[in-house]
Amino acid sequence: MTEIKKAEIKMSKIRLGIVIGSNRRDSINRKLAHALARLGGDAIEADFIRIDDLPLYNQDLEADLPSEVTRFKRHVENADALLFVTPEYSRSIPAVLKNAIEWGSRPWGKTSWPDKPAAVTGTSPGAIGSAIVQQHLKAVLGAQGLHLMGGEAYITFKPDLIDANDNVTDESVRTFLKTFVDQFIAFAGRFAEKAAPRVAA
Ligand code: FNR
Repeated sequence: MTEIKKAEIKMSKIRLGIVIGSNRRDSINRKLAHALARLGGDAIEADFIRIDDLPLYNQDLEADLPSEVTRFKRHVENADALLFVTPEYSRSIPAVLKNAIEWGSRPWGKTSWPDKPAAVTGTSPGAIGSAIVQQHLKAVLGAQGLHLMGGEAYITFKPDLIDANDNVTDESVRTFLKTFVDQFIAFAGRFAEKAAPRVAA
């Protein structure tokens, strides 16, 4: 690869699809997702991929896919990388997120997931900050063919952790999350470099 192409890849933004595993209006995971996008700065173009209006998965609907589903799949497919930010429900994956995963994987032969670099994080007011859902989600996404970044980012949410402008107020948490985001951008960039079609002349 020429030096110019390498530089172009370095300069091009990662199209980061962000999937939030909560449909709650005041979701703390949505706050965390926006804070992470802010920490990504100019290196990313964030696309918050909507999942709350997807119908409950039903194979009968596959014959004529609902427009919400085709929209969701298009956004997933257009992303260079996917970041999942999710709460933990009943020590596992919230139904709204699992529903979206099902739709992304269907119809048979038309899955939207394979080969996307992905990272998982989440927050909870609880002491172990979504650790269990993250393990479950990584197993499910791995089976769908996504490439999961290693490492762990479990965040215990405190009421003032993220301000109204999406800034993380606690310096040590901010530094930790910035490192997580930077590592993910570098991880996703390695996949973009291998594929390289959108910057090649
Ligand atoms: C929870 N919550 C929760 N928290 C946790 O750490 N482990 C868990 O297993 C659960 N289970 C659970 C089930 C259900 C049905 C609800 C409504 C809540 C608490 C959860 O972390 C808290 O409500 C968060 O605020 C949810 O995230 P969002 O929706 O604010 O992003």
